[in-house]
Amino acid sequence: PKNVGILAMEIYFPPTCVQQEEMEVHDGASKGKYTIGLGQDCMAFCTDVEDVISMSLTVVTSLLEKYGVDPAQIGRLEVGSETVIDKSKSIKTFLMQIFEESGNTDIEGVDSTNACYGGTAALLNCVNWVESCSWDGRYGLVVCTDSAVYAEGPARPTGGAAAIAMLIGPDAPIAFESKFRGSHMSHVYDFYKPDLASEYPVVDGKLSQTCYLMALDSCYKRFCHKYEKLEGKQFSVVDADYFVFHSPYNKLVQKSFARLLFNDFSRNASSVDEAAKEKLAPFSTLTGDESYQSRDLEKATQQVAKPFYDAKVKPATLVPKQVGNMYTASLYAAFVSLIHNKHTSLAGQRVVMFSYGSGLSATMFSFQIREGQHPFSLSNIATVMNVGGKMKSRHEFPPEKFVETMKLMEHRYGAKDFVTSKDCSLLAPGTYYLTEVDSMYRRFYAKK
Ligand code: ACO
Repeated sequence: PKNVGILAMEIYFPPTCVQQEEMEVHDGASKGKYTIGLGQDCMAFCTDVEDVISMSLTVVTSLLEKYGVDPAQIGRLEVGSETVIDKSKSIKTFLMQIFEESGNTDIEGVDSTNACYGGTAALLNCVNWVESCSWDGRYGLVVCTDSAVYAEGPARPTGGAAAIAMLIGPDAPIAFESKFRGSHMSHVYDFYKPDLASEYPVVDGKLSQTCYLMALDSCYKRFCHKYEKLEGKQFSVVDADYFVFHSPYNKLVQKSFARLLFNDFSRNASSVDEAAKEKLAPFSTLTGDESYQSRDLEKATQQVAKPFYDAKVKPATLVPKQVGNMYTASLYAAFVSLIHNKHTSLAGQRVVMFSYGSGLSATMFSFQIREGQHPFSLSNIATVMNVGGKMKSRHEFPPEKFVETMKLMEHRYGAKDFVTSKDCSLLAPGTYYLTEVDSMYRRFYAKK
C-alpha cells in the first residue's frame, strides 16, 4: 500500500470551559500570567456527565457517520490515553459496543499508555499494521482521549479535555513519510501518576519543560540525520512548511520552535541568516545543560524565530490555546488547527510533528499532504470537524463552578454506586454521557 496515513479525522471537546483571564483573577495570579506567561486563552473540562470513555464513544460514532464508514470496515482499533478509569479493562473494549452492533468483533488492538505519547504509539501501530503483511485490507482507527486535570496550584491552568479519532489507510491525504522518524526515550520522573487513588499527576513542571526540550533536540537531530542520509541534502526548518508540537501550554511551543532554530544555528544550516548568526553567536560556546537554563538564549532564539513561528507554527496553535492540554490528543488537536486554518493551501506541503510524553518517550515524524478524494479530502475533513462551530457553541463557566466540578470529580474518582446529574442540556445531539456507575463499578452511558 502507498501513501499510508490519515484518511479522516474528527475532534470532540466538552462544551464546558473556563476563561484563563478569569482564572488569573480567581487564583490571585498576576494579570497575564496564564494568558501571556503560559500563552493559554481558555480551558475545557469534563463535568460529571463526561469522561474519556463518553468522549471517545462520541468521536468514533461521529467519524463513522459523517464519513460514511461502515463499522465492519474497521480491522484495527487502537486507543491512546493516560486517564486511568480502569487498571485492566481497556477503553477500546468500551468502544467495541459500536462495532458489535454491526457484527464486527474481528478488530485487533487495545490501549497504549505513556503520558501524552499513547496516541502517537497507537497511530504508529496502526500505520505499521497497514504497511505490514498482516494487513487485511480494512481501515485502522486511532482514538486519543484524555481529561487533563491538576491539583490546585501552578499546574491547574494547564488542564484541558478532548478526544480525537483518526481513520488510517492507504492513499491518504495526510501521508506518513515513514523513513524520517526520529525517537528519543529515557527514564525520568518529570510527570507521573503513582497515586492510584487520585486522578492528579505528580508533576515537576520545570523539569518537564527541560526534558521536553532535550527530547526535542534529540529527535530533531535524528530526524535531520535520516533525512540527510536519504535525500542527500541538509534539513533545516525551511524544508518543512509547518511544525506541529505537543502543547502542554503554548509558551512551551514557542520555546520549542525557537530551539529548532538554535539547532539549525549549531549545525550551520541555511535557515539561519547572517543577522541571526550574529545574535546567536554569543551562545555558541554554551554546553548542552547551560543552553537549557539560559534565559538570554531563550529570548534571543525566540526573537530570531518570530517570523518563522508566525508562518510555520502559529496556524497550528488555535485548539490547544482554546481547549488546553488534551494530553494524547494535544498534538493532533494542534494538527486539527492547521487543517482548520490552512486546508485550502496544504496540498503538496510537508508538516513536521513532535510528540512528547513524560516519563519519557518522544518521536518526531512528518506528513506529506495531498488533496485526497471525497470523502477523504482536506476540505471535507475541515468541514466535518467544524472547529469554528464547535468553538462558538461552547458555554463559559465561572472559575468557581470549575473548581466545584473538580471537587466533585475528586470525590467521584474511583467511586461506585452513584448516578450522575444526567444533565445533558449543554451537550450537542449525538453526544454520549455517563449516567451511572453501579455497585460493581460498571459504567453506563446514554446518547443524547
Ligand atoms: N504576565 C506575563 N507573563 C508572566 C506573568 C505575567 N503577569 N507572570 C508570570 N509570567 C510568565 C513567567 O515569566 C513564565 O514565563 P517563561 O517561562 O517564559 O519565563 C511563565 O509565565 C510561567 O510562570 P512561572 O512562574 O515560571 O511558572 P509556574 O510556577 O506558574 O508554573 C508550569 C508553570 C511549570 C508550566 C506549571 O503550570 C506546570 O507545572 N504545568 C504542568 C506542566 C506539565 O503538565 N508538564 C508535563 C508536560 S508533558 C504532558 O503534557 C504530560
